[in-house]
Amino acid sequence: MTHDMSGTTVVITGAGGGVGSAAARRFAAAGATLVLGDLDGVRLEELAGELAAVTTVHAVVCDVSSVADVENLMAEAVETGGGIDVLVNTAGLWVEGPSESMAEADWDRVVDVNLKGTFFCCSRALPELKKRQGCIVNLSSDCGLVGTPETAIYTASKGGVSLLTKALALEVAGDLVRVNAVCPADIMTPMLQYQADTYGGGDPKGYFRRLLSGYPQGAKARFITPEEVAELVFYLASPAAAPITGANISIDFGTSAGYGYD
Ligand SMILES: NC(=O)c1ccc[n+]([C@@H]2O[C@H](COP(=O)([O-])OP(=O)(O)OC[C@H]3O[C@@H](n4cnc5c(N)ncnc54)[C@H](O)[C@@H]3O)[C@@H](O)[C@H]2O)c1
Repeated sequence: MTHDMSGTTVVITGAGGGVGSAAARRFAAAGATLVLGDLDGVRLEELAGELAAVTTVHAVVCDVSSVADVENLMAEAVETGGGIDVLVNTAGLWVEGPSESMAEADWDRVVDVNLKGTFFCCSRALPELKKRQGCIVNLSSDCGLVGTPETAIYTASKGGVSLLTKALALEVAGDLVRVNAVCPADIMTPMLQYQADTYGGGDPKGYFRRLLSGYPQGAKARFITPEEVAELVFYLASPAAAPITGANISIDFGTSAGYGYD
């Protein structure tokens, strides 16, 4: 779909990552001014350099688990972009394994980034979003909708994202600010590669095969591309999505649809 976003400012967290960079490219192609935040300054600068040929881009190294950093990111957006029309929260971390083996630090870092980070980015962007009747798109997950074994911490963080999306949507509906989440299954990004490398027992391809074996498409299953997720995020930020708020939209080949395909 096309939708001219020139004159608007889009803030994207986790912009150096797979989904974040695909979203940045999608919004850049539509002419939006971009304010890109990520902890990884190297990937951020690479992307900003690439997109500078297409649109106005500001890169801000930030840790979304720090409220001070989040406030600085939003202040940069106001200073350099004049305000905020769209916030896309993609910064995230993965952890998996038996719950009995999880350390306090595992809980803290994943919940701090995925849940606390998403909440405070929304919170601190809202005053500007209200001025422009803007919108938020949060990256939740199929894990935000259904349980899977040995992912309790990640799932708790994404379940929180899915429900805070609904609560915020109701809170700011009167200001005509929309808040939605997308809930993807496995996307081929650095996060998925990290999962396979870290938790695949030395056989990343086997890890990928095990994931895909749970898809209802059977032998025809494949991973989602970051561009497919970015297109949904872009649609949710468009005027065509005006009636959509408080939604958790699945993009998962049906993996969260129900039972009966295993
Ligand atoms: N890849 C998948 O299979 C998948 C599936 C469902 C949902 N998601 C969610 O989509 C989002 C994007 O995931 P991705 O696959 O692009 O991952 P990714 O690892 O490619 O990108 C995540 C980005 O977040 C950044 N980040 C991490 N901690 C941060 C912090 N404290 N402050 C700022 N930035 C930080 C990383 O540097 C990285 O650039 C995440 O929220 C993830 O949980 C991913």
